[in-house]
Amino acid sequence: MLEVETLGVTYGRTQAVKGVSLTVAPGEIVTVLGANGAGKTSLLRALQGAVKPASGRITFNGRDLTGQSPAARVKEGMVLVPEGRQIFVSMSVHENLLMGAYLRRDDAVVAEIEAIYERFPNLADRRNAQASSLSGGEQQMLAIGRALVARPRLIMLDEPSLGLSPLFVDKLFSLLGELNRDGIGILLVEQNTTMALEIAQRGYVLELGAVAIEGTAAELSADGALTEAYLGGSEAEPA
Ligand SMILES: Nc1ncnc2c1ncn2[C@@H]1O[C@H](COP(=O)(O)OP(=O)(O)OP(=O)(O)O)[C@@H](O)[C@H]1O
Ligand SMILES: [Mg+2]
Repeated sequence: MLEVETLGVTYGRTQAVKGVSLTVAPGEIVTVLGANGAGKTSLLRALQGAVKPASGRITFNGRDLTGQSPAARVKEGMVLVPEGRQIFVSMSVHENLLMGAYLRRDDAVVAEIEAIYERFPNLADRRNAQASSLSGGEQQMLAIGRALVARPRLIMLDEPSLGLSPLFVDKLFSLLGELNRDGIGILLVEQNTTMALEIAQRGYVLELGAVAIEGTAAELSADGALTEAYLGGSEAEPA
């Protein structure tokens, strides 16, 4: 479904991503791990189309999207839930969900948003509340809900568990499992290595912008020493 070939991202003289190649098959959960500054967000932003890659190619369902706008990628079914959620805090919950539909003109949007309220009853109860009044966990659910309104075939998430209570981390990971069972592919950037490798089928470990290790989740989990070396231990995981 997604094929990334030798992607490079540079900011001035900083080479944040250096020739990264990765794939996500339809219905697969793939995780990208790596220490702070490894280039995970830069990679996702290049996939989203927010930054122009210095090199490489992005193909989605056989179409070359490398030079396409972020909006075109959303239309093709690639949606990013960005680092730090980035919901519109001064808007209501409902208005945030409508923002996820800004590229869609069809009547199905209303039904789509209702389906999201069914999935997230907390959001339904608060649909007219200002998004800033939601807890961190609820804001993350809203950010994911907003992405789902675009009917993605691939959802990319940048450290969605960051700052969430253990209860919400569990909720988040079971939600990702549900979305995947509904047929949505997932590219998950995480620092919670243990949980990411539990849910993913495969993973890549980035170090200084390049893929240092890749393999099945089982292989990466078993590779304790290697993972520790690149990720600096697993302090992010709950006890
Ligand atoms: N807008 C920018 N301008 C210049 N340098 C940047 C910019 N964004 C990121 N960088 C640099 O690019 C490198 C990769 O950063 P990036 O944010 O992609 O890493 P990350 O893996 O997402 O880190 P974190 O785990 O902290 O979120 C870092 O050296 C960072 O300082
Ligand atoms: Mg990041």
